[in-house]
Formats: sequence, C-alpha cells, structure tokens
Amino acid sequence: MKLIVIIFTLLSNLLADDITPIPNKAIDVNPIKVKLGKKLFFDPILSKNGTVACVNCHILSDGGDDNRQFSIGINGKIGNINSPTVLNARYNFVQFWDGRAKNLQEQAEGPIENPVEMGNTFPNLIKTLKNSPYKKEFDSIYKDGITKENITDAIAEYEKTLITPNAPFDKYLRGDKNAITKMQKEGYELFKSKGCISCHNGINIGGNLYAKFGVFKQAKSKSLGRYDVTKNPLDKYFFKVPTLRNIALTSPYLHDGRYKTLKSVVRFMIEYQLGRKAKQDDIDKITVFLLSFTGNILK
Ligand code: HEC
Ligand code: HEC
Repeated sequence: MKLIVIIFTLLSNLLADDITPIPNKAIDVNPIKVKLGKKLFFDPILSKNGTVACVNCHILSDGGDDNRQFSIGINGKIGNINSPTVLNARYNFVQFWDGRAKNLQEQAEGPIENPVEMGNTFPNLIKTLKNSPYKKEFDSIYKDGITKENITDAIAEYEKTLITPNAPFDKYLRGDKNAITKMQKEGYELFKSKGCISCHNGINIGGNLYAKFGVFKQAKSKSLGRYDVTKNPLDKYFFKVPTLRNIALTSPYLHDGRYKTLKSVVRFMIEYQLGRKAKQDDIDKITVFLLSFTGNILK
C-alpha cells in the first residue's frame, strides 16, 4: 500500500497540471442572447406550475448553489444529489456530477424536464412561452422562434458570463505575491506536495477529469456516478472532479452533501483520495488556502 502511495504521489507530481487564472477581460458572448438567457434563468415560468426558477437552486450571490444537502424542486420534492455551482461551469469539461451532459446547452434541458426539479416538458414550456411576451423576444433573435434548442441556447449563453475572476489566488498567480497570506502559501505547497493538484487543476481547479470517489479507501455512496451513464463496471463511483473555485461559499460538500465544513472534506480528501494520514496542521493550512479561491461574486 505504501508503495502505491509513493508511486501515485510521484506520478501525480509529474503529471500535475498548473492552475491558471480566470481571464479578467471581457468575454466573447452574444449580449442579446445573454439578456434573454438571464431572464429565463430567473423566471419560474420554466417550471410546470410556475414556481421554480433555475436561480432557486443556483443562487448567484451565494456561491451559485443552494447551500442545502439536497435541492427542493417542484411541489417541495427533494432531490438526491447536491446542487453544484453554476459559477464558472463553462470551464467544466462536461456537466453534472456524472458528466451526462456534454456542455451547458445540453445541461439546461435536464432541470426543465426533471420531475423533482422543474417537472415540465418542452412541448408544454414552448406553448407557455408562445403565449407570453417572450414570443416577440425569441422571434427577434432566432429565425425559428421558440424551440427547445433556442431556449437552451439562450440560457447557456447567459451562463457563459457567470465567471468569477480576481480571486486572491488568481492575483497571486498573476504575480501579486501579497495577494495571499503566508499560511495560504504554505497551504498551496501542501496542495501540490500532497497531490491535491493532480485532480484539482486547470482553470477551474477541477472540472477537467473524472476520479474515483474513494481511491485508497472505499467511501460509502448511494450514487454510482459515471457508471449510471456508461454501465461500465470500471466507472463505478467515478465522479467529475468538482471545481474548487468559490468553495468557501458552497457548503455542504461532496455529491451527497455529507459534510458541512471545509475542514472535514479536506480531511476526507487526504485520507480517501490520497491515502495519507491527515495531520491537523496540514488540514488547517490547506483549508485556509482554499479560501483564496473566492473570486468576484455576481449579483
Ligand atoms: C430543484 C433544483 C434545481 C433547479 C431548479 C435547477 N438546478 Fe441545476 N442542478 C441542480 C442539481 C441537484 C444539479 C446536479 C445534478 C446531477 O449532477 O445529477 C444541478 C446541476 C447543474 C449544472 C451542472 C454544474 C456542474 O458542475 O456539473 C448546471 C450548469 C445547472 N445545474 C444549471 C441549471 C439551469 C440553467 C437551470 C434552469 C434551467 C437549473 N440548473 C435548474 C439543481 C437544480
Ligand atoms: C484522485 C483525485 C482527487 C484528489 C487527489 C483530491 N480530490 Fe478533492 N475531489 C475529488 C472528487 C472526485 C471529488 C468529488 C467527490 C464526490 O463528491 O463524489 C472531490 C471533492 C473535493 C471537495 C468538495 C467539492 C464540492 O464542491 O463538494 C474539496 C473541497 C476537495 N475535493 C479538496 C481536495 C483537497 C484539498 C485535496 C488534497 C488534500 C483533494 N481534494 C484531493 C477528487 C480528488
């Protein structure tokens, strides 16, 4: 087992990608579609009975998630998986914990038709929108007016703008050596030397690979993760490695929201993902480092 840990650490250090800052210049989007997509994101009209909007479960000013273990959808129905943040979701290589949507547009179909989220159908939603002021707006932007593709296209275009640049750690990466504290720098060193960075790297500090939930120790999980999509036994308990951006704001943590505090997740990661003994001092430093990932939050 020790040998596996050493090989894993060596490999992860060799393969370790860097973390790159979020661009802090204007992003290339279609502003008219963004305006429409934003309206839709905040509008409960998308749900079957007009009560649930995307923003109910993805509160932008509060980390882009809903701060609950499981979300509450239409008619008070409770889901079975933790709501991830929509902030910076554009940088994820696939969407959902199990990666079943290849991009934001495909993702946006999911909640609208999910019986425990918005409980609608596209034919019904299109009918509703055609009888609303949205008709004019869609007709002026899209040649074919209100369709499933155009609804999800507008929402996805808006979501592309939901990025949070200028986190202290991004400023540090850009050369401002005082943007993070001494303890955070020590946490960063541990984040690299312990091997966190082998899974949480790139522009989203995660979101670019699948990894097993419980690499060194079996972790109990009701959800089978990626296996539900591929039915390949090797994919059992694999999940998309989540982004760590704005992680201070998105408690509770993990796909089943089992931990309320960051320190308990960091301990879990050290023990289950890295197969190491978790020292309190390391947990404290790494946790403080993670706080430097909070960027400019949107309203
Ligand atoms: C009732 C709560 C709820 C509503 C309403 C809701 N979501 Fe979600 N959202 C979730 C949950 C839970 C997940 C994770 C589901 C999974 O991975 O299986 C999720 C996942 C996502 C993701 C993927 C993020 C990632 O990192 O994989 C995006 C993007 C997203 N939602 C956007 C939207 C949009 C756009 C809408 C409106 C059309 C919406 N959501 C409506 C709860 C909700
Ligand atoms: C082998 C890959 C791997 C390594 C190494 C790893 N993680 Fe993770 N991390 C994951 C996966 C996968 C998840 C999501 C697990 C789940 O909920 O199913 C995750 C989740 C997290 C979360 C919770 C995110 C959320 O939104 O709920 C935090 C925080 C985190 N990791 C921090 C760390 C830290 C700190 C380290 C180093 C001590 C580390 N990770 C090492 C793969 C890894």
